[in-house]
Amino acid sequence: MPLEDNLRDRSPAEKRDEREELGFLRQPAVRWLSPGLLARSGVEVLVSGTFGKFADKREIQREPQLGMDYSAAAGDVWVDYLSDTGDGWEATYTMAWLLAQESLDFDGQALPRGRILLLGGDQVYPTAEPVAYEDRFIGPFAAARPKSGAVEEPDLYAIPGNHDWYDGLASFLRVFCAREGRIGEWRTRQRRSYFALKLPNDWWIWAIDIQLDTYIDDVQLDYFLQQPVKPGDKIVLMTAKPAWIKAVPGRLEPGCWRYLSYFEERVVRASGAHLAMTITGDIHHYARYEPRDDPEAPTRVTAGGGGAYLSGTHTLYPELHVRSLDHDAAEAVTYGLEEVYPRAADSRRLSNGVLGLARLNPSFAGLLGGLYVLLGMAMLGALNAGADGLYATTTADGFAGFLAASAGGMSLLMVALLFGGIFGGLDLVPGPLEEKKSVVRATKLARLAVAALHTVVHLLIATIVLWLVVKLVGDHPLAIWALGLVALFAAGAALGTTVFGCFLLAVHKVRGSKSWETANQIFTAQSIPDYKNLVRMRFAADGSLTLYPLGCDRVGRAWDYTPEHAPGPKFSPRGAAPTAHAIDSPLVFDRTGRRSG
Ligand SMILES: [Fe+2]
Repeated sequence: MPLEDNLRDRSPAEKRDEREELGFLRQPAVRWLSPGLLARSGVEVLVSGTFGKFADKREIQREPQLGMDYSAAAGDVWVDYLSDTGDGWEATYTMAWLLAQESLDFDGQALPRGRILLLGGDQVYPTAEPVAYEDRFIGPFAAARPKSGAVEEPDLYAIPGNHDWYDGLASFLRVFCAREGRIGEWRTRQRRSYFALKLPNDWWIWAIDIQLDTYIDDVQLDYFLQQPVKPGDKIVLMTAKPAWIKAVPGRLEPGCWRYLSYFEERVVRASGAHLAMTITGDIHHYARYEPRDDPEAPTRVTAGGGGAYLSGTHTLYPELHVRSLDHDAAEAVTYGLEEVYPRAADSRRLSNGVLGLARLNPSFAGLLGGLYVLLGMAMLGALNAGADGLYATTTADGFAGFLAASAGGMSLLMVALLFGGIFGGLDLVPGPLEEKKSVVRATKLARLAVAALHTVVHLLIATIVLWLVVKLVGDHPLAIWALGLVALFAAGAALGTTVFGCFLLAVHKVRGSKSWETANQIFTAQSIPDYKNLVRMRFAADGSLTLYPLGCDRVGRAWDYTPEHAPGPKFSPRGAAPTAHAIDSPLVFDRTGRRSG
């Protein structure tokens, strides 16, 4: 059965047939700025945050977790790490398909696929619900590597990210922690939302569940404290957030850093083990920070390239000052940013794409078009109320007179709301530790000025469009209303949205990493599916660990449904197959867990 390539163009009947045929429905990438989604996820974030405080599902997870000991495995043990997977079909399936290949090339070296697959969080977008897990995660993964009946089946372990927590973890526990669970060829083994894997040569992988950015609960602490770790063992720690990336002078240490630091110091290091590396997803790029002067401090890697929209890399701080919970300020460890993917220049170039916001995000464009219509209705209402009728009131005193006459109570209220919305959303605030009063004052003024200018540009567009319509139509009030509102919608959707993109980009260009939220919005708004990444790890028989970070510059857009290839992948690339390549040098840890290359 041929399946439609354009996932946004399928009719309800086509969708029904596809779900029947595949058992799931391929989903287009989430459009993050769309109004419906913003409202829905806002509510879920609020609800999950509130309930998370009162009913923390972690505290009731008491199932024993057995069978996680791989220490007797012979030869090398290969482990794959992927994070932030379940977004649009093209990107998620591409990554699952790459993982399912017998081997991937890393600068001429063939790396065999992992015996274990680790998922670092955010397995589903935008919010956790059973059907979203099926369509965006289980379906694509099971299609990429269907059950084949092979003797040695790979194991799969996952920790939840914030998106998995938006239904209080209910779906995550069903998908990953069920008895005898499986996803395609992968078997799930865990019974809780965190786990400790014992690997050969005294290596461990510990993975924690930080819920929605909070402390580690007692039950979980007990679980890790009871692990049979010996002094000198080596630990790779998985967490669901790069808590360290904002640890720079001039910024407050985020709470999440304190929670992570607590675990690293009081649980991992207190056991006598060596913390070799902390790895995470959450942000959808690859970034590696290395300690500059402390060989005992862990390498810190963000690799959230499993499927979700691309995040930029050019605003990452080149240097971090990471202050451990157990040290005073003087002993902060300096970290340097050693490698990123995509490269900073590519990331900077991609940020310009936000100028195409109207095309990239039609529902956001529709929202702005709607706002222009409301503004137009308010203005026309004021003009209608004039003693001489709509046309005469509008044209009596030229453009200035038209502006004055259209400024009624409702239109002024609309302008105030528009300004309030723009001002409120503008990420132009002084640093939390900024001491210079002049800088604080200047930044506040700049925020006011930019918001005012942004509002004025929208007003100018709307008023000029309305003025032109009146001039064009002549003294036909009904036609002025009808044509005026249609023209305003179009202008708001196309021009207004582009102006919005321009302002985002301008603030970003001037402020860079000082306006972190803006940098994030520029990428969320675009939903770029490309520049994905994964990390393949080799726990070698000689006791060393090597990490091979791999990237995929362009994910597959066109896939043919080929169930006849069973038990191979159910979809095959049409045309050139997506490829993975090295995005960093191999990261080698010696048998003591210290970096040796
Ligand atoms: Fe994410």
